[in-house]
Order: sequence, then C-alpha cells, then structure tokens
Amino acid sequence: MKTLFGRLADGTEIHRWSLENGGTRMKVLSYGGIVQSLEIPDRDGRYADVSLGFDRIEEYVDSSPYFGALIGRYGNRIGKGAFTLDGETHRLSVDDGENSLHGGAEGFDRRVWEVEPFTEGPDVGLRLSYTSVDGEQGYPGTLRAKVTYTLTARGDWRIDYEATTDKATVVNLTSHVYWNLAGAGSGTIEDHELQLAASHYTPTDAGLIPTGELAPVEGTPFDFRESKPIGRDLRTGHPQLLAAKGYDHNWALDKGVTAEPEHIATLHDPSSGRTLRIATSEPGVQFYSGNFLDGTLVGPGGRSYRQGDALCLETQHYPDSPNHPSFPSTVLRPGETYRTTTIHSFPA
Ligand code: GLA
Repeated sequence: MKTLFGRLADGTEIHRWSLENGGTRMKVLSYGGIVQSLEIPDRDGRYADVSLGFDRIEEYVDSSPYFGALIGRYGNRIGKGAFTLDGETHRLSVDDGENSLHGGAEGFDRRVWEVEPFTEGPDVGLRLSYTSVDGEQGYPGTLRAKVTYTLTARGDWRIDYEATTDKATVVNLTSHVYWNLAGAGSGTIEDHELQLAASHYTPTDAGLIPTGELAPVEGTPFDFRESKPIGRDLRTGHPQLLAAKGYDHNWALDKGVTAEPEHIATLHDPSSGRTLRIATSEPGVQFYSGNFLDGTLVGPGGRSYRQGDALCLETQHYPDSPNHPSFPSTVLRPGETYRTTTIHSFPA
C-alpha cells in the first residue's frame, strides 16, 4: 500500500509503502529508502516497532542521524575525504570533521529514490533505484544503484544491492537501521546479547578512521564470538572505546567476502524474546552502540532517544578501504556489476 508521507521544501512528494509478509511488517519511504518502521512479534505475539524512526518528513530532513536509511555511495568514513584511483585524486564532500562519512553531506540517505512494488511467488517487496551523476559528492562516474527490499514468506527482510558505473569508482552500500528489539524508545540496548563471527576488528584513530591494523578481539571488549550483553564490557575504559564513546568499529568477519550471504551476527533481547539474525555476503560489519544519540530526538511514541537506546549493525566493506590497499577492494569498474546481499531474519 502506498500513501503520501509528506513533501520536501521544494514540493517533491515523498511516499510511504507498507509491506507485510511472514509476520514481519515494514514501512519504507521514497526519501533515502528509509525503513520508517519495522514491526515483529515478541515471544507472546505482541508487535513492536524495533527500528528507530520519526513521524514526519521534516524530522528526517532536519535532524536524522541516518535512521533506517540507505547509505551510499560509501558507507562509513573515507579519511580526509579523499582517495586516489588509477593515479587520479578525488576530493569528496567532507561532513565529519576532516573526513567524509556515509557518502558526504548529501548522501543516498537524502535522495529521493524511485520505488516499484513487486510480488514474486510467495515474496513481496520493493525495487528502489537511484542514479548518482558523475562527480556527485566528489565521486567519479555515473553510478546506477538498485536496491531490492524483499519480505519473504518466513518474514525475513532481504536486501540485494546492485550498482554499475561508467568510470572507475569506489562503492560501499549499506543500510543504517537503528535496532532496539524491546521497541524503539523503550530504553537502553545494553542488555541485548550480541554475537559477532569475527576474531579481528579494525582499530581506529581519533577520527574513527582505521589505522590499517587488524587487531585480534581475543582478551578485549571487542570479543563477541560468544554471545554477551552489549553493556558487559562497555565501561572497561579500553582506549578504543573511550575514543569512540562506545562501540563504533568495523569487525572483520572471519568468513570474508562470500558469493552467498553467510550468518555473521545474532542479536537477542532477553526481555521480549525477540531475536535478529544477520547473514551477509560482505566482509565487515560496523557495530555502532548509538553513542551519539543524546536525548534531543523524539520518536513517534513521544519517547526521546538517548545514548545507547539503539544499535546499528551495518554490513559493509571496511571503512576507508580506498586508502588501504590491504583491505578487500571497493573499486568498481565499467562493465562490472557490484552485487551484495544482506538478510535479516527474526526467528521466533
Ligand atoms: C555510523 C558511524 C557512526 C555514526 C553513525 C551515525 O555508525 O560509524 O560513527 O556516524 O553512523 O551517527
């Protein structure tokens, strides 16, 4: 079902699509491909919206920290907002100190996407597309991005990303849902239990740019190989946690890049019994513990969002890969098709 959600300042209409399948309900905006709400049942069948969002388009435009949005052209940071490819240096939109974050000041999260609903066998979904012109936010090449959101018969939310270019470029698309499995606005996620299939992570400098090192998680607060409450090691004073105000790091997934999505993370909320499982073809995941939420934003239920009231698990290539030849490559050339898949499932 499609409804008018609101209008941008220039009059552009923003629509909202409602989907439901296999017990999962989802609302998606044409602005930023934003997942405005995602509802799943708890252990007693009671539904809650488990993704942070807003009621009004103005709030997304004026103050959203990427709630539910598609991120491009480059998820996470590129150091000093520059990279060199084939001998040519490209200067990007700088929107995070001296760095470029999430595609720059006017990233894919702030673009209006074309949206086509579909039904395919037992699945329902939306095909979103956006063409980013050559030079947009400093990135070379015309990038044609297609993102498919599918709700499967068993209630999985699958994302298939695709992109092509007409000049060599870099690309790293992701989704920026803020999860709180007890319900958006219900309080902290510190009691949620998280498991991540990674024995290494990429430590960062003060600007959250990877140093290039792959550090073992063994014996550190970064060890989520066995499920543990997110809050357990959050206050240990580890220098990496102090610098980032919590977890805001890329875990180098043990499986690396895979042709098919493989399981990499399980998030469980003991209070509601809700569980999220993530499988991806990507080599990394940015786990962000909602450190910058400061109580100034208010959700649809009238509840404010404070530090640690949600977390993000952004499947991706590593941050700043264009400046780290040792990291898995994010280069896309004409004739190639960028393809990645991430599946979110919500086992009962
Ligand atoms: C990502 C980044 C964080 C922060 C959030 C949005 O998770 O890694 O540093 O910018 O997005 O606030």
